[in-house]
Amino acid sequence: MAELKKVFIPDIGDFKDVPVIEILVTAGSTVNAEDSLLTLESDKATIEVPSPYAGVIKEIFAKVGDKVSEGSVILTIEVSDSVVAKTPTQATEQKPVPETINAASEVEIKEITSRQPQGIQQNVPVQDVSSKAHASPSIRRFARELGVNLDLITGSGPKHRILKEDVQTFVKSQLSKSRSDAMGSGLNVLPWPQVNFAKFGSIELKPLTRIQQISGANLHRNWVMIPHVTQFDEADITDLEELRKESNENTKKNNIKLTLLAFLMKALIAPLKKFPQFNASLDNSADGEVNLIIKHYYHIGFAVDTPQGLVVPVIRDIDQKGIIAIAEELSKLSALAREGKLKPTDMQGACMTISSLGGIGGTAFTPIINAPEVAILGVSKATIKPVYRDDQFVPRLMLPLSLSYDHRVIDGATAARFTTHLSEVLTDMRLALL
Ligand code: COA
Repeated sequence: MAELKKVFIPDIGDFKDVPVIEILVTAGSTVNAEDSLLTLESDKATIEVPSPYAGVIKEIFAKVGDKVSEGSVILTIEVSDSVVAKTPTQATEQKPVPETINAASEVEIKEITSRQPQGIQQNVPVQDVSSKAHASPSIRRFARELGVNLDLITGSGPKHRILKEDVQTFVKSQLSKSRSDAMGSGLNVLPWPQVNFAKFGSIELKPLTRIQQISGANLHRNWVMIPHVTQFDEADITDLEELRKESNENTKKNNIKLTLLAFLMKALIAPLKKFPQFNASLDNSADGEVNLIIKHYYHIGFAVDTPQGLVVPVIRDIDQKGIIAIAEELSKLSALAREGKLKPTDMQGACMTISSLGGIGGTAFTPIINAPEVAILGVSKATIKPVYRDDQFVPRLMLPLSLSYDHRVIDGATAARFTTHLSEVLTDMRLALL
């Protein structure tokens, strides 16, 4: 006979009032013991709560956004007799006791810092902690132990579920690839210095935000894996600034501010079309062949500084939009970014990114490419400078540009041509229309 079982939040260590960020099952769905039911996210970790029983989900009480602690009831499962018999440690309806829950059995705690495990070559991709791959907690744990990013694996199980064999096959393929690579590909650097700073004075410990931890790991990978070169240039934006101010007079009654960034995004399309290798990504196929994927769409990301850290929302199809539409989207996405309300899809699909520090200051910087893009445009503060023209110095508003590019894809001469053309377009925005 079928029996209705309540499922509680098990012992999740020291965490309390942890927000539910994802419900992984629906009422009526069938689950196996160990299948993930929902995901919790504390400041330090995401936690998947697995099902203690096999059966059919009857009612779900937890909602995304609810805060739960050990013992909170999250749902009920209808368990048939035969199934109850197969799940001996959880057969009676009771809260799981702490000793049944440990790192090796029930709760999946994914540390947000990425780790390089011993014994695995550095070029085995480390686990992406935000992985949405379809895999059970035990497989996630197995992958984590090996430092494998589940997002890179196509599962061979039902509904593309990733099986243990899939992880093993992936690791074998990565190891054999690394053996065939040239010697000395590892970084072979010294360990990070361990210093007791308290010996030298008063200190405090401040954990990095979740965004800082995730973006830090990405920036680190991009810095280490992409051979960066930065090309510096200047654009005369005297006329553009005049046009912007005039246009702002007309649009401000509709509460629309035409920012320099909106014009920069539009101006970027002309050089991207002229030099398509900038509108591209490197594609490393499984058999070791490397191709360049040239994109026929023009989506531009822009870095936004938020209290939680740096995020990069994306505006799509800039080539098909006017400055007013771009400015409106910029302002909407920047506001969402600052409120921490961007959806993952708002931050996907960029062809190239602009990082504008011009409103803050500085003369130049070396931005880090946002992989798998191959270039990023840094913009610093425009200042009036004396420019020699027609036998005299004239005051012009000059905008510093810092273009970092992936030297595997773009050579120096092309990068110089790119910034030269961008500078021409910014000097005469009519070129952006051609
Ligand atoms: N030179 C001189 N002044 C500039 C400028 C530039 N390049 N860009 C903007 N300004 C001025 C504007 O004219 C504006 O002045 P105003 O209010 O008198 O009109 C002011 O700075 C604010 O500019 P605004 O256009 O409203 O915003 P923005 O484009 O400077 O900034 C973001 C928008 C989203 C880019 C910005 O908020 C941000 O987060 N920047 C940081 C990005 C970052 O951290 N990058 C680093 C990644 S490594």
